[in-house]
Amino acid sequence: MQCLLFSILLWLSLAFTCASGEIHYHEFVIQATPVKRLCEMHNIITVNGLFPGPTLEVRNGDTLVIKAINQALYNVTLHWHGIRQLRTAWADGPEFVTQCPIRPGESYIYRFTIEGQEGTLWWHAHSMWLRATVYGALIIYPEEGSIYPFTMPKREFPILLGQWWNRDPNDVLRQAMITGAAPNISDAFTINGQPGDLYDCSSQETTVIPVVYGETNLFRFINAAMNNELFIAIAGHLMTVVAADAAYTKPFTTPVLMLGPGQTTDVLVTTTQAPGRRYYIAAQAYASAQGVPFDNTTTTAILQYVSAACPTATRTSPSVFPPLFPALPAFNDTQTAAAFSAGIRSPSPVDVPDPVDEHLFFTVGLGLFNCQPNQLCGGPNGTRFTASMNNVSFVLPQTVSILQASYLGAEGVFTDDFPPGPPIQFDYTASNISQDLQQPVPGTKVYKLKYGSVVQVVLQGTNIVAGEEHPMHVHGYQFYVLATGFGNYNPATDPAGFNMVDPPQRNTVGVPVNGWAVIRFVADNPGVWLVHCHLDVHIVWGLAMAFLVENGVGELQAVEPPPIDLPLC
Ligand code: C2O
Repeated sequence: MQCLLFSILLWLSLAFTCASGEIHYHEFVIQATPVKRLCEMHNIITVNGLFPGPTLEVRNGDTLVIKAINQALYNVTLHWHGIRQLRTAWADGPEFVTQCPIRPGESYIYRFTIEGQEGTLWWHAHSMWLRATVYGALIIYPEEGSIYPFTMPKREFPILLGQWWNRDPNDVLRQAMITGAAPNISDAFTINGQPGDLYDCSSQETTVIPVVYGETNLFRFINAAMNNELFIAIAGHLMTVVAADAAYTKPFTTPVLMLGPGQTTDVLVTTTQAPGRRYYIAAQAYASAQGVPFDNTTTTAILQYVSAACPTATRTSPSVFPPLFPALPAFNDTQTAAAFSAGIRSPSPVDVPDPVDEHLFFTVGLGLFNCQPNQLCGGPNGTRFTASMNNVSFVLPQTVSILQASYLGAEGVFTDDFPPGPPIQFDYTASNISQDLQQPVPGTKVYKLKYGSVVQVVLQGTNIVAGEEHPMHVHGYQFYVLATGFGNYNPATDPAGFNMVDPPQRNTVGVPVNGWAVIRFVADNPGVWLVHCHLDVHIVWGLAMAFLVENGVGELQAVEPPPIDLPLC
């Protein structure tokens, strides 16, 4: 019966998605929803009462129209992570960057078209720490009439990795902002919203993924965790990576994946193991910062072989064998993390934009503010934690978004003097960086880019406070990752090692711990685009900046006028 129902639903959904360039209308009601995890009931913020939120499924070329209705008691915005948003920066979503937040009781319609993108992306709240529970998958299938550049999988599964606190995540954030200390570490990681068998009161609800022997499946991994990069492995199965961040890749086979928050990786898994057995999909932290406390728990889901007759039934008769557990790298296995990331390449030779018009060098890292009177200073040696890019600790405006201010020419909201390099050059990855280099300057600064300019950014990690791999995300763009390395970037010798043949296209790049990454893109999308570390603990400390990409010539190279329902602050 379940099978029949599923087939009918599948047929219906296919019947309604045939026209190309279709418009999909959705209502996302943001609301408090009681959810029980780790033995406790919590009122979490969800979309439509679902956790994780609804999966959006579209084709390349389609348009999404999503009415966000805020019935929660928090201000909120939604962000469509990785979507280019060509000319529609108003729909991008980071609060106070492209819009004011949607206030409780109000709504806003996000409207945008997917142009030239295929694969796995996701959506999430972009307001305080609401994205801890407000997120979901955004799957972009090839245009009508085109197919995947790999074996057609029998079944597809989005696999969302998340992070759970036994508290309101916004309270965890608020406490950290008051005390100046690091926020409390989480109580669990999750797979599709469930912590899994290794946590208290969780095994009844462990996510079960039904597979049939002898088939190829597509798993779309999304790291939606807040503050941790994750290693992922499946017992008894290798994974063939075919796409990352909604860009196809040269296939390669690996026993383990590493995803930073914001990143996605699509893998093919062929079911070659003994039918009737169960295999854990497990994920735990890749913790690159030395001596920094982190959630060292392991989340699991179960790959369960079922009979081909009814593959959607997840609760078949329990197996007598416990599920097999995969080997996961050590928490600090930087070598495995780096090797995995370096394995990701474009499928065929690409035309890397060249020559470069803008050579930028951005340091990325933490910092410490000295204690001011009337402040709590729970950071190291009586300081407060902060973070910066090029020594500017990013501060969001409060009364209007940067995009609105720039569109209207409003003064006093931001300045356009974000520096193209750090104010002082020093040994960025040294083990003992002097105290005076640890104090950034707060500011709301953007860097202006001419429409169509070729931009190269060297992202240089620093060892201030603690070196750590930073998953750096650029809104509104897919960039090429030309190279990564450890230590200080050397402009004399490192360019010789740039991959100008098949560099991967990504929206989030892991800047190796005490190392660097070089990205390149054409500034062909006008608007204001946030650049930030996707570890949310670092964003709120100021590890961010924004590009202001100017309009080009004519309407098609200009930001569209703002929607009439754009929220007011
Ligand atoms: Cu996934 Cu600024 O976001």
